[in-house]
Amino acid sequence: MRIPLLAANWKMYKTPAEARSFVSTFLQSPPPPNKEIAIFPPAIDLPAVLDAAKGSVLHVGAQNMYFVDEGAFTGEISAPMLVAAGATHVLIGHSERRQYFGETDELVNKKLLAALRHKLVPIVCVGEHLDQRDNGETDAVLRRQTSRALENIDAAEVAPIVIAYEPVWAIGTGKTATPEIAAEAHAVIRHEVAQLLGRPASEAMRILYGGSVKPDNAAQLCAQPEIDGALVGGASLDPVSFGKIVAAAP
Ligand code: PGA
Repeated sequence: MRIPLLAANWKMYKTPAEARSFVSTFLQSPPPPNKEIAIFPPAIDLPAVLDAAKGSVLHVGAQNMYFVDEGAFTGEISAPMLVAAGATHVLIGHSERRQYFGETDELVNKKLLAALRHKLVPIVCVGEHLDQRDNGETDAVLRRQTSRALENIDAAEVAPIVIAYEPVWAIGTGKTATPEIAAEAHAVIRHEVAQLLGRPASEAMRILYGGSVKPDNAAQLCAQPEIDGALVGGASLDPVSFGKIVAAAP
């Protein structure tokens, strides 16, 4: 049984005060049980969100981290720092990190290994660009990103890893993958995980869908047996809208 995970990726939005106010509004209606809910605020908002979420069911994670524990890496934050602050989850290799900050499959793999070493729940993002889909390269891209991310990881360590399938053409565009397109991509990813790490590991791994998830399409997407929850950007910035998405996921 894979527990659904609903994740709010706030990207570069919200001040600490705005972040705090989101959490208190969101928690006014108690979130449904049996679902894991995680907020990924900008790093500067982590203390405010952790404090506002204290004692609640909300998990809090970072949008990014570096793979070295400490050192001369100006501007970076490490896994042990996140853990010490109280974060439990981390996004790795979001397409915006890959596209605008040059993150490679190799870096994604190093970050994933560091997250596991420090017992953070990593959400590794994969997904094809529109031209790759149009050229029939989607499956190859997903297989490559998945296998490169999972290099040097063995089946015994894989349990906490979550993968998010986020077709780049659907992120922030209002164009959502149909439930069928998403389910097909998830099956490709799960098959690749099975090839690399065996079926039990692949059956246990949660695969989220991300890309223009909204209150009105969340139920249909999450109803697919292959889809284990959602990574939500724009529609997670408003507590009411994110609350509706959380409620809509079966
Ligand atoms: P979106 O972003 O929901 O705004 O499309 C999703 C994401 O980038 O994680």
